[in-house]
Amino acid sequence: MRIFIPFLFNSALYLNWASAATNPSQHCKPLPSSPNWPSLEQWHALNESLSGQLHAPIPAGTVCHAGQPGYTNTSCTIAKTQWGNSSWHANNPWSTDYNDDTCLPDPIAPCSTAGYPAYVVEALAASDVQEAVNFARQTGVRLIVKGTGHDWPGRSSGPGALSIWTHRIRGINVTHNDPRAVAYGGVASVKIAAGMQWRDIYQQAAAHNLTIVGGGDVNVGIGGWILGGGHSPISSRFGLGADQVLELEVVTADGKHRIVNENSYPDLFWALRGGGGSTYAVLLSVTVKAYPRMPTTAYVFSYNTTANSDTFWSLLAYFHQQLPMLSDSGAMGYYFVEPTVNSTAVGMIAGGWFFPEKTTDQAKAIVSPMEKVILSYPSWAKDPIVGGGFPEEMDDFTTSFCLAAEPQSVGVDGRLGSWILDKKALSKPLDTLKTQLKKSTPTPWMLLGHLVAGKGVRDAKIPGGSNAVSPHWRSAYSHIVIPRSWPYLNATDKAAVTTSLRNEANEALRELAPTSGAYMNEADPTISDWQEVLYGDHYPRLLELKKKWDPEGVFWCKPCVGNELWEVTGPSSMDKVEWGIGQTGGKICRK
Ligand SMILES: Cc1cc2nc3c(=O)[nH]c(=O)nc-3n(C[C@H](O)[C@H](O)[C@H](O)COP(=O)(O)OP(=O)(O)OC[C@H]3O[C@@H](n4cnc5c(N)ncnc54)[C@H](O)[C@@H]3O)c2cc1C
Ligand SMILES: *[C@@H]1O[C@H](CO)[C@@H](O)[C@H](O)[C@H]1NC(C)=O
Ligand SMILES: *[C@@H]1O[C@H](CO)[C@@H](O)[C@H](O)[C@H]1NC(C)=O
Ligand SMILES: *[C@@H]1O[C@H](CO)[C@@H](O)[C@H](O)[C@H]1NC(C)=O
Ligand SMILES: *[C@@H]1O[C@H](CO)[C@@H](O)[C@H](O)[C@H]1NC(C)=O
Ligand SMILES: *[C@@H]1O[C@H](CO)[C@@H](O)[C@H](O)[C@H]1NC(C)=O
Ligand SMILES: *[C@@H]1O[C@H](CO)[C@@H](O)[C@H](O)[C@H]1NC(C)=O
Ligand SMILES: *[C@@H]1O[C@H](CO)[C@@H](O)[C@H](O)[C@H]1NC(C)=O
Ligand SMILES: *[C@@H]1O[C@H](CO)[C@@H](O)[C@H](O)[C@H]1NC(C)=O
Repeated sequence: MRIFIPFLFNSALYLNWASAATNPSQHCKPLPSSPNWPSLEQWHALNESLSGQLHAPIPAGTVCHAGQPGYTNTSCTIAKTQWGNSSWHANNPWSTDYNDDTCLPDPIAPCSTAGYPAYVVEALAASDVQEAVNFARQTGVRLIVKGTGHDWPGRSSGPGALSIWTHRIRGINVTHNDPRAVAYGGVASVKIAAGMQWRDIYQQAAAHNLTIVGGGDVNVGIGGWILGGGHSPISSRFGLGADQVLELEVVTADGKHRIVNENSYPDLFWALRGGGGSTYAVLLSVTVKAYPRMPTTAYVFSYNTTANSDTFWSLLAYFHQQLPMLSDSGAMGYYFVEPTVNSTAVGMIAGGWFFPEKTTDQAKAIVSPMEKVILSYPSWAKDPIVGGGFPEEMDDFTTSFCLAAEPQSVGVDGRLGSWILDKKALSKPLDTLKTQLKKSTPTPWMLLGHLVAGKGVRDAKIPGGSNAVSPHWRSAYSHIVIPRSWPYLNATDKAAVTTSLRNEANEALRELAPTSGAYMNEADPTISDWQEVLYGDHYPRLLELKKKWDPEGVFWCKPCVGNELWEVTGPSSMDKVEWGIGQTGGKICRK
């Protein structure tokens, strides 16, 4: 944990301001301080209809603040040590992985409720979700949904909102030879309840000798992942998560519990698969296809040269030029790029490829032509490059990789930039790639590459023929993420880092593929043309379906379909852009 420094920003100002700026002619979502906020009696009645499952959140960091609920030295120590543990945040009804600086577990940090909803429904069944949706629709209170709280753009939190926490809606059922799955190339269907995380799902898949298209991190939840598209270490083989969906069980904005599939509400079926979380409905369960257990060869590699040198950037450009060939030959996986490794003299590209159903010899034959060039002192290299890789056989991909990978640490103040690169972008001249990649990842930052698309995503067998997943994915090879972070409570650094990320680094990637876009679940939510960037040509149809299925805007988030039908008023334009984590400051009013 980094050291905290006192922060001058006072979020109480925000709430006071918000209550003052009421324009009665507009329909605005009520805030706790505004006159149209539901009365305590109304909240009590909701609690009764939920058998007492309504909670008033206490920010997770208050345990470190004298005079605040739950304050003890022991609880504070636990909160500090668990702040980076995404499983700890997932088990909390209201906390999320990225809370900004609203209530850090440190006595000298300020603590407010601005990073948290006003009330949380701990949903156990469809009827609880229906009660919450009906309450939000009738009162106009902003509604959000939290599964695990992993969301980087901050769509699973929001001040003054009613939140539905789906974590306790549990269960997984496997049906071998389900004809609906067989029709689309699977061998079984798996029905997964909204509260499940990939660890639970992979355990069931392994026990049934199945392979399932799932997230790379065991703590990520099914809900936001699959509704937003969902990339997987094996999506290059079978398509994205949303492409696996056979059926969804949801509660729509009108409070109705519906079964949605290619025959029942096909337009909603299309929109839910890739149109984004908490936009059209609350997911209760999803049924996906699954494939046989899959022996796989993994190939772990690293290539090192002089930190941040001309050779390093040429190497990175050359490496990217090879990605379409690697992907088309059956490689998939992740790579990490550190121009300067921890202030040392080394610049490194490292990662792991998976080769499903290929032998170690086959895997080596695919990577070796590229490695021979890299290690042969090619004409573009002024410094030596060292490295290579080693293959490893895995009897079952699910057990040996998916369940074995350590969950990532969370809880930092950060933002992701990202862009999806197609073959055309990756085939640009060495010098072009070199210049743009260098601009995207200045030292000390790193770049995370996801070789998770290619053939499998382009040719996915999608139930009903198509879905709302952004067309950018269908020609994708590498999904590039450029993460940034800044010290807690440092507004100056935050502004500098997020501004250069948005205006320089992300733009450098965009220039490589101007008509491509970014992956909504891992993108910078402050990009101005987010509709085109995140949803591509599907946006107009998605917006029509939003108006059809949620005409009153019960669900509202950023950057979500229909966001622009509402206006957010805040004290300064800077805050509107930079305020993160679902905390779009001020009032949310219908335009
Ligand atoms: C450590 C880490 C690893 C990641 N790895 C991957 C990866 O391998 N592949 C990948 O594609 N992405 C990955 N992501 C991004 C991931 O897809 C998003 O964080 C996604 O939002 C997670 O969904 P969630 O339900 O777990 O999270 P939440 O934050 O709970 O929800 C995310 C969004 O979905 C909505 N939502 C959640 N549940 C429901 C529901 N039941 N009904 C309606 N809306 C719902 C929320 O309201 C919110 O808008 C990763 C993120 C992190 C932090
Ligand atoms: C809801 O009711 C339960 C049980 O009576 C109670 O413990 C809880 O505090 C109530 N929630 C709120 C927000 O009042
Ligand atoms: C609180 O805990 C920390 C570390 O666990 C310890 O160093 C400190 O002395 C404790 N303070 C008190 C007042 O007990
Ligand atoms: C992370 O949190 C979970 C849930 O609270 C807990 O079971 C697990 O032990 C924690 N992991 C670590 C490394 O503390
Ligand atoms: C799994 O099947 C059981 C028994 O039919 C049922 O009670 C349960 O709700 C099902 N779970 C899911 C996630 O569908
Ligand atoms: C899974 O496969 C193993 C090894 O082939 C076999 O022993 C086991 O019975 C299978 N389990 C199931 C549930 O099919
Ligand atoms: C760099 O340092 C961090 C933190 O000390 C460590 O986790 C990481 O493994 C290091 N990276 C490399 C490539 O050695
Ligand atoms: C590359 O450098 C990193 C960081 O110093 C090191 O961990 C790794 O082993 C090196 N790889 C090779 C092939 O030398
Ligand atoms: C904020 O961060 C920057 C860069 O990391 C640092 O130079 C500056 O001193 C920090 N400001 C404060 C108030 O800590």
